[in-house]
This record gives sequence, C-alpha cells and structure tokens, in this order.
Amino acid sequence: MKLKRLAKWSAISIVCALGAWLFVSYWRSGNECDRNAAAQAPSMKAIRYCEYGSPEVVKLDEVEKPVPTDDQILLKVRAASLNALDAYMVRDNWVNRLIFGLRKPRDTRLGRDVAGQVEAVGKNITEFKPGDEVFGICRGSLAEYACAAGRALVIKPPGVTFAQAAAVPLAGLTALQGLRKGNIQAGQKVLINGATGGVGTFAVQIAKSFGAEVTAVCNTRNVDLVRSIGADHIIDYTKEDFTKGGQRYDMIFDNVANHSFFERRRVLKTNGICVLAGMGGAGVKQGQALGRISGNLFVACGLSSFTSQKFAQYMTKLSKPDLALLGDLMQAGKVKPVIERTYQLGEASEALRNFAAGHARGKIVITTGLESP
Ligand SMILES: NC(=O)c1ccc[n+]([C@@H]2O[C@H](COP(=O)([O-])OP(=O)(O)OC[C@H]3O[C@@H](n4cnc5c(N)ncnc54)[C@H](OP(=O)(O)O)[C@@H]3O)[C@@H](O)[C@H]2O)c1
Repeated sequence: MKLKRLAKWSAISIVCALGAWLFVSYWRSGNECDRNAAAQAPSMKAIRYCEYGSPEVVKLDEVEKPVPTDDQILLKVRAASLNALDAYMVRDNWVNRLIFGLRKPRDTRLGRDVAGQVEAVGKNITEFKPGDEVFGICRGSLAEYACAAGRALVIKPPGVTFAQAAAVPLAGLTALQGLRKGNIQAGQKVLINGATGGVGTFAVQIAKSFGAEVTAVCNTRNVDLVRSIGADHIIDYTKEDFTKGGQRYDMIFDNVANHSFFERRRVLKTNGICVLAGMGGAGVKQGQALGRISGNLFVACGLSSFTSQKFAQYMTKLSKPDLALLGDLMQAGKVKPVIERTYQLGEASEALRNFAAGHARGKIVITTGLESP
C-alpha cells in the first residue's frame, strides 16, 4: 500500500517537473530578433526567420555583421543555395519546436551552402588569405557576410562560377558519400530514385563518373534533363513503377523512399544494396516524412539484416577532401551543377516558397548581388 502511494506521488512529481520545465523552456526560448540588433555595430543584410511558419516568415533584415573567431574565416558571400533542410527548418511543427526551440527558432539564420570571397581570416587560419575564392558549408549563408571554419571550405576551381560552386556542397556531398556507402563500382547497374532534385542531379553525374550504368527515375517533364546529365536509362514514374520492372540493380540510391522494403528488394540483385539518402525532398509533408523515416530506419534496415540484400542509411558528413573532389569533378567537366533558377537575396522568401512546393529541377541558388556570380 505504502509502495503504491510512493509510486503514485513519484509519477505526479515527474509529470509536474516535466510540465514546469516545458513551461519555463517555452517562455525562455527567444531569439536574436527579440534584441535590438546592430544598433551601433557594423551591419549587413541577412535572411532571418524570427518565427516558425510558411516561407512568408523569411525576411531580409539588417543584422550585425559577424566577426570571425581565431579559427574562422569571414566570407563575403557571393552565392548560396537552398537545401531540403532549409525548407524543413522553417516549418511550424512539434518536431522543429522540440529540436530548434520551443517558442521560436533559436537560430534564426538560414542557409548552409556558400560560395564567396575571403574577406578576413582568424589568427589560426594559415590556409586561406583575403581575396581567395572559396566554397563550402557555413551557418547562415543567406547573408552578405558569413563566418566559416577552415575545415568547411575549399578553393573554388577557377572555371566554376560562384553560383555553380554554391549549388554543390550539401547535395554534392550527400550524393558522393551515399554512392560510396553503396560501394559503387565501374560497370554496376545503379538506379537513382528522385534523380532530378538537388541530390539526384549530382548522384546521376557522380555515378557516371565512377563508370556505373545509371537508370534515372523522374517525372515526364524531366526526361530531357536527366538524359542531358548522362543517364543511360530513364524510367518515367508517372507511367511506370521501377519496382515492377524486369531489371535488377546492384544499387538503388533512394532519395524518395516511396516504396516498401519488399518492393525495392524485388529489383535488387542478390547482393545488391539500397542506399537510403532521403524521403522525397523539400516538398514532402511532415506526416509522410515521418512515415518514410520509420519505414526505412526501422523496417527496411531492420529486415535487411536477415537478407543478402542490404538497406543502408547514412548521414552526410562535412569532409574537406570530398569537397575538393567535387571541385575537381566540376573542373574536369564531369559534374555540372543543374540550377533551376537564381534569385537575389531579397527574393529569398519567394525562392523558399517555390522550392518548398517540391519538384525543383536541380538546385535553387541565391546571389547576394554584391558582385555578379
Ligand atoms: N542523408 C543525409 O544526410 C541527407 C543530406 C541531405 C539531404 N538529404 C535528403 O535527401 C532527399 C533529397 O534531397 P534533395 O535536395 O534532392 O530534394 P529535392 O531537390 O526537393 O528533390 C526531391 C526529388 O524527389 C523526387 N520525388 C518527389 N516525389 C517523388 C515520387 N513520388 N516519385 C519519384 N520521385 C519523387 C523529386 O522529383 P519530382 O520533381 O518529379 O517530384 C526530386 O527529384 C531529401 O529527403 C533530403 O532530406 C539527406
């Protein structure tokens, strides 16, 4: 009896403590928009979202110009590009509130991919000097200036524009590292599901550069696009389901995850692998995404431990050698970023709205207008 009462009061205390923690965290979770930024300090224009919501919450604001730490590089941003992550982070849903801030987003800046010119370097940076043209990954790249770590940047190849270089980092790394995860080999048959978005257009070209025979799955309107970037075979998903065909693949590189474990397994060779890159891109709905994530992580990866065909998930890692390799592939003409459209910084909200509607062809790039990219 005593034990029962103790358990009851313990449960009530835990619930009350959790409630109090949630309440306090909720009201304390402000962001830089609450403060009067850049009253005196040197300022710049940057894209921010002070609240969660539709792409309309994304605004061009005057903010404090960042100052690099000893280990950072200050970049004059020439171009940045959007990734599915940017579209997901702005949305108002409980997953974002739990991860990025309960009441408001803690980090109000958008953009990760960047290409620009080195403006200043911290005292521990020896690899770059002012004036160098670079590309890579940083926080808040949708701005006139941004700070990046030295390990996140490489020199931009001379024949590549700022807009092209800014299109590459996250999507290019995701494609390259995913194809490696599947241990891609010359002569293999590789199917790319979701071949025409940011990651897919790089995956097609990088797989070709490895010497694979590539089948691209796309919409009718993108058949010419995937042919132009080197796909050997094309499956129009509006007319044909690739999991019902007679072909068997060494690798499925899956950006969409819109088929079950059993359907995909059917078209994999005995020792084939399905690399789970994503779940449909910027246009995917939250419920759909959660269903696909759990279907892949728990069902497909779990079940494939009992079969010779493997399903493998991975997280893209920041890798300087991989960024340099992507630069080399561009310089050699083996990878040419597909850019659907270039917007100005002040048009970021419109750019995000179009991107978040789904179905972008390749990448959407945003230039700062500081200088022609
Ligand atoms: N693993 C990681 O660490 C990592 C890193 C970065 C990105 N990602 C993920 O990778 C995925 C792709 O990113 P992205 O930047 O390429 O997105 P994206 O640019 O929005 O492209 C999405 C692609 O999915 C296709 N698609 C959507 N619905 C489809 C359907 N029903 N059947 C066939 N294709 C369909 C789209 O083609 P249509 O135009 O024909 O619809 C498009 O080719 C995202 O889910 C993203 O979160 C993962």
